Amino acid sequence: MNSLPGTPLLSASNLRTWFPLRAGFWQRAAGAVKALDGFNLDISAGETVGLVGESGCGKSTAGRTLLRLIEPTDGSLTWHGEDLLRMSPKALRAFRKRAQIVFQDPYSSLNPRMDIGSILAEPMRIHGLHRGSEQDRTRMLLESVGLLPEYAARYPHEFSGGQRQRVAIARALATEPEFIVADEPVSSLDVSIQAQILDLLLGLKERLGLTYLFISHDLGVIRLISDRVAVMYLGRIVEIARREELFRAPLHPYTQALFAAIPKPIPGKKRFRATATGEVPSPANPPAGCHFHTRCPLAFDRCRKEYPPMTGGESHRVACWLHPE
Ligand SMILES: Nc1ncnc2c1ncn2[C@@H]1O[C@H](COP(=O)(O)OP(=O)(O)OP(=O)(O)O)[C@@H](O)[C@H]1O
Ligand SMILES: [Mg+2]
Repeated sequence: MNSLPGTPLLSASNLRTWFPLRAGFWQRAAGAVKALDGFNLDISAGETVGLVGESGCGKSTAGRTLLRLIEPTDGSLTWHGEDLLRMSPKALRAFRKRAQIVFQDPYSSLNPRMDIGSILAEPMRIHGLHRGSEQDRTRMLLESVGLLPEYAARYPHEFSGGQRQRVAIARALATEPEFIVADEPVSSLDVSIQAQILDLLLGLKERLGLTYLFISHDLGVIRLISDRVAVMYLGRIVEIARREELFRAPLHPYTQALFAAIPKPIPGKKRFRATATGEVPSPANPPAGCHFHTRCPLAFDRCRKEYPPMTGGESHRVACWLHPE
């Protein structure tokens, strides 16, 4: 699909994904978990956006909502400039082919009763691709992720974790996608295997011109793979910048706290001003004002009252009252 130059591949604006909470014997509505609450992100074709933040901040919900695997409660979402939330069934099917996901856990994301060949052929069948030549295509896919074509006859339990994640990546590639959400794709793997899978993802991106949203709680991994990095806190992006820029000069006290929590110091950086202590507040009941103010050592009066707007330029934006313009 072609779109006007400058149009983002995918654009989310003021996205809300709320999960209703029910309580008591009658399961009455009792508020909502605001997993995404004012989520804005533009992703350009060919870039890798790293999405980072603590557990429960809404990263997976963001990835799934962007792919319309979860319906947002509110907000807008466009794909090549077209309204993704009001697409015809035909256009939505085309989108499903072009936008895929790789999950964290290759143990549970592959059907143990299907051989690898069938696992890879299934998405082709669903989308009516490569009829009659599924086997050739399967062999090619296996080779493209560094596995032997003979492996098509094997079952998931015969593989190591890293190999299984290669199969999961091959399955995502089966429909020739443009865009892949990788949700913690290396978090369950040993460090040495992590590097191999990251290399594979980078190589595939170059070769196939892919665009990634790469979700991870690990800043080390995010640093290796991302062109831009978005930092999430309680359902929103609080800082977004080009990778070098973010690692050189993180502006949001929350981002600084995430860096401070990395066990090994970043060379050249002695100490950050802020460290976040205490629990992440519940996304069912986020604090008024800046959601981070309850943990921010630099918070002042305004932070407790008003949510800060996103400020800054193209290469670095932040939502923090310390940087009001
Ligand atoms: N299907 C659901 N129903 C109800 N609440 C949900 C559902 N999915 C996620 N949540 C809640 O939404 C919030 C965000 O969850 P999400 O899984 O998106 O976070 P995450 O950043 O991916 O966390 P992690 O790093 O642990 O994977 C959490 O409070 C979670 O409990
Ligand atoms: Mg998650």
